[in-house]
Amino acid sequence: MIFPCKFILFLPILLIIIFQNKIQGRTLLLNNNNNTVSAVFVFGDSTVDSGNNNYINTIAKCDFPPYGRDFANHVPTGRFTNGRLVTDYLASYVGIKDFVPPYLDPSLSLDELMTGVSFASGSSGFDPLTAQLVDVITMEKQLEYFKEYKRKLENSIGKEKTKLLISKAAFIISAGTNDFVVNYYNTPFRRQKYYNVSQYQQFLMQMVQQFIQGLMNEGARVIGVAGVPPFGCLPIVITIDSGDALQPRRCIESYSAVAREYNSLLQRLLKTMEIHGTKLFYVDIYDPINDMIQNPINYGFSEVTMGCCGSGLIEASILCNPKSIVCNNPSNHMFWDAVHPSQATYYTVFQAIRPSIDFAINQL
Ligand SMILES: *[C@@H]1O[C@H](CO)[C@@H](O)[C@H](O)[C@H]1NC(C)=O
Ligand SMILES: *[C@@H]1O[C@H](CO)[C@@H](O)[C@H](O)[C@H]1NC(C)=O
Repeated sequence: MIFPCKFILFLPILLIIIFQNKIQGRTLLLNNNNNTVSAVFVFGDSTVDSGNNNYINTIAKCDFPPYGRDFANHVPTGRFTNGRLVTDYLASYVGIKDFVPPYLDPSLSLDELMTGVSFASGSSGFDPLTAQLVDVITMEKQLEYFKEYKRKLENSIGKEKTKLLISKAAFIISAGTNDFVVNYYNTPFRRQKYYNVSQYQQFLMQMVQQFIQGLMNEGARVIGVAGVPPFGCLPIVITIDSGDALQPRRCIESYSAVAREYNSLLQRLLKTMEIHGTKLFYVDIYDPINDMIQNPINYGFSEVTMGCCGSGLIEASILCNPKSIVCNNPSNHMFWDAVHPSQATYYTVFQAIRPSIDFAINQL
């Protein structure tokens, strides 16, 4: 049994323009309401990919039912969950729009582009090898796409307005889990051979630093960087890496300890990188998610160790598909599939990070 399961984790799992020539409708800075955020730009993995993987050649996809079951009109948009993502809630909250669309969607209007897009790609990570395992978009490539985006915007609205828009935008980065659970722990011949876990964390910090520096060089001034969740608690990790089959299902504490260490390193890095005129925020998702696992009843959850889709033990992406059985009520499941949080969890995370969002907005 072990081999096929291991094999499954190599699959697409995790964590997983049309430009018009005129500006229409929206003015760049909406001074007449409470909203000072011009746009939201998103980078990372499946936790924030709103559908970019639909447009590339990879098996890490989910643009089919039952994904999107609880989304507007039940559309499987390519979001790796049953509904909306934290970044969608965030864009609504700051008054920009209700959904952050994927950059690679060729039908986006200028207005959609100007209020922000996601460059994220399910199954990606800060380590370029993580994305290469399933042919998804590396962080480096996501930055390249952002530069391309800027050039397109400059051609449409001019350099000055583009610069202003970017300086008033909120940048969000969410990645790192795949680097550990897909790449480091479950593809050991790729990275474990060369790095022990602390060295690998250091390596990831260099990658994070390079990426943030790249965004700052392009004019980003307010950047929120999410830490990693207690990834020892992902249903698929419990199934595959706990070593004692199905019983009893509980988090792998040694993995979550690595997650906490990574998060401390990340917080330290962000402090050292902050320069005058730029704000770097650590976004804590570990504590809210851990609290949901420890106190599920407080959040209306009855199931926190298995996904809603399929058996709940291993299915994600193509293994969670129209043929899968789906639980009756995803909102009492913390996980939608064996890897990805449900919309209910994303909403709770959004509420938990709202004070940080308010603080960040005040910097703009
Ligand atoms: C902005 O105003 C809207 C509507 O008045 C409100 O729902 C929203 O919470 C406000 N957002 C912030 C960040 O204050
Ligand atoms: C990792 O390797 C470094 C260098 O060889 C060593 O100093 C460190 O103690 C090791 N850390 C762990 C957790 O094994």
